[in-house]
Amino acid sequence: MNIKRTELDLREELDRIKSENKDLIVGFVPTMGALHHGHAQLIKKAIEQSDFVVVSVFVNPTQFNKEADLENYPRTEEADIELLRSLGCDLLFLPSIKDVYPDSLDSKKIDLNGLDLVMEGAFRPGHFDGVVTVVNRFFEIVQPTKAFFGKKDFQQLAIINRMVEVLEWEIQIIGIDIQRSIEGLALSSRNSLLSDQELKDALIIHETMTFGKSIYKDGMSTISLKSDMEAFFNKGNLELEYLSIIDNKSLQEVTTVNEDCTVCIAAYCGEVRLIDNTQFGDF
Ligand code: PAF
Repeated sequence: MNIKRTELDLREELDRIKSENKDLIVGFVPTMGALHHGHAQLIKKAIEQSDFVVVSVFVNPTQFNKEADLENYPRTEEADIELLRSLGCDLLFLPSIKDVYPDSLDSKKIDLNGLDLVMEGAFRPGHFDGVVTVVNRFFEIVQPTKAFFGKKDFQQLAIINRMVEVLEWEIQIIGIDIQRSIEGLALSSRNSLLSDQELKDALIIHETMTFGKSIYKDGMSTISLKSDMEAFFNKGNLELEYLSIIDNKSLQEVTTVNEDCTVCIAAYCGEVRLIDNTQFGDF
């Protein structure tokens, strides 16, 4: 596996490889590192569906709205390199802040059609501007054919799709299913910050979604489903930030629930903020 740390070096290498095969399918997996089994699945899919796979590891400062969250975000560069080698990633891009943001840390603003105003966007102001800015910048640098994102960040995936449409990127966006522990916890880099007790406590998120599944009926009122799920969730030890039942396309809360809806949960487990979601159509 090749490792490149600057835009210039990365472009030189990709241009050289592309000059040998003009139809090369470049698969790109952007990450913030602290790689786990969920990332491994994204990377395996990218390898299956591309000729050449680029993974970036970059903890993006502009998508953190709290300084402490950015500082505490897990960083495991050596282990990440090891895992990527074992998976068969072709090129790892490990840029500096200066390389990604040569001029300023200002975020790009694009019209996200309200997708950024709810849930994560409402609770983490500026978060999606930072995500859109960095992903757009990586698309400029890597110029991939396809890019792979996890469905755990359901809202992020919808926003990336919108960004690709608005900015007319000819890049295929591929969403990969949430990976879970055997007990049901959605895999996340932030799980490494949880104590053993918190890892057990965090299971209430998946249990609440499973409970929702057991009482869900197509066309039922959201108010009753939501309040029953919230009551179930509040029996656990986490602090709920939001439990939203939304339309898959508009991401707006709905009044009646059907197969085209998703329940999204954000909650604090101790100091660690976790998110998860389940589509009612998948139940
Ligand atoms: O999902 C993530 O890890 C990040 O938001 C991403 C897409 C790598 C952008 O920094």
